Amino acid sequence: MSNTEKLEAICDYIYNIFSNDTTGHDYHHMKRVARITSSIAKQEGADQFIAEAAAWIHDVGDSKLFLNSSYELDKLNEFLQTINCTQNQMKLINIAAKDVSFSKGTTPATLEGKIVQDADRIDALGAIGIARTFAFGGSKGQLIWDDNNKENTSVQHFYDKLLKLKDLMHTSSGRRIAEERHNYMKNYLDQFFHEW
Ligand code: ADP
Ligand code: NI
Repeated sequence: MSNTEKLEAICDYIYNIFSNDTTGHDYHHMKRVARITSSIAKQEGADQFIAEAAAWIHDVGDSKLFLNSSYELDKLNEFLQTINCTQNQMKLINIAAKDVSFSKGTTPATLEGKIVQDADRIDALGAIGIARTFAFGGSKGQLIWDDNNKENTSVQHFYDKLLKLKDLMHTSSGRRIAEERHNYMKNYLDQFFHEW
């Protein structure tokens, strides 16, 4: 199988796992992260195949989405073997994907991993980021906003996490996209409080 065919097979595998997610971690999140990753990887001279494959799988086994993380990861790696990924490809894909999640507070060791983390964070910003934040908040039973009890509201999440992301970018190409989306979100919050 060529690397392009492997990526197509990985895309189908991911579709089956995430197509019904309603917490903002659906198949389309994986697809956008794969596309942003591919574009940054080109600009940064990273390994395109490893970066894009890691982007597709970066949320597989995440403990907030799966009851049995290690089972999901074992199943994924068995699948990667069936599509003839080499041991070295599997190793590099796993290394690039495993430290991406914001909640883990970790920095991926490789350039490909750093690019996937940038892309995942970019997808938490801008118009898409705003939509995902309220979708996630709704799915967890969170209020949109409450002046008297800000903690655990969706709008508070912008201040706790999202507005900090642009300064945490690893690549200059990622930072450029993040800054534009950051400014869009700040304007959104100004308008939100104007209307509130
Ligand atoms: P990661 O997948 O990197 O661990 P998260 O799961 O924290 O990151 O974030 C994924 C999406 O869920 C983001 O769009 C984020 O804004 C949203 N999200 C995470 N936590 C909250 C929260 N407490 N309130 C609202 N949205 C949240
Ligand atoms: Ni993600």
